[in-house]
Amino acid sequence: MDKGLLDLHNLLRWILLILLLLSIYKAYSGWKNKKVFSPGDRKTWLFTLIAAHTNLLIGLYLWLWGRFGMLKIPAPPEGVTKSKFHLFFWIEHPAMMILSVIMITLAYRVAKKTLPDSTKYARGLWLFIVALLFILVAIPWPFRHDIGRPWLPGMG
Ligand code: HEM
Repeated sequence: MDKGLLDLHNLLRWILLILLLLSIYKAYSGWKNKKVFSPGDRKTWLFTLIAAHTNLLIGLYLWLWGRFGMLKIPAPPEGVTKSKFHLFFWIEHPAMMILSVIMITLAYRVAKKTLPDSTKYARGLWLFIVALLFILVAIPWPFRHDIGRPWLPGMG
C-alpha cells in the first residue's frame, strides 16, 4: 500500500501543478479583463483545493507511517538537522507544503466570500502564485542532491 500511495503522491503533484497554473491564469485574466467571477472559476479553484488536500492527506500518512516515516524508522544519530535527507523529508517538505495548502485553502475561501469580483481575482492570484512558488521549491525534483526523486512513478 505504501508504494501505491507514494506513486499517487508523485502523480498528484502534476495534477496539482496543472490545476494551480490554470487557477493562476483564470485569476489573472479575470482581474485584468474585469470579468465577473464565474461558476467555472470557482470550480477550477475547488478542484485545485481538492488535489492539494488529497496530497496533503497522503503526505501526512507517508510522513508518519511511510517507509521513512517518523514513527517507522529511528531518527538519525547525528540529529535530524544534520542529515539533509531527514531535514528535507521530515521538516522542510512537510512545512512548506502545509503552508502552500493553507494558501490554496484561503484562496478558495475568498471565492466563497461576498467580495467584489476584482478583489476575489486579485487575492486569489497572489495566494495561488505564492503557493505555487512554495510547492516548486519544496518538490524533491530529480536533479536535487541527496533528496531527488523521479519525475514520474517507476522512473527512478
Ligand atoms: C500538497 C503538496 C505536496 C506535493 C506536491 C508533494 C510532492 C511530493 C513528491 C513529488 C514526492 C516524491 C514522490 C516519489 O518519491 O515518487 C514527495 C515525497 C514525500 N512527501 Fe510530499 N508533497 C506534498 C505534500 C506533502 C505533505 C503535506 C507531507 C507531510 C506532511 C509530505 C510528505 C512526504 C514524504 C514523507 C515523502 C517521502 C516519502 C517516501 O519516500 O517514502 N508531502 N512529495
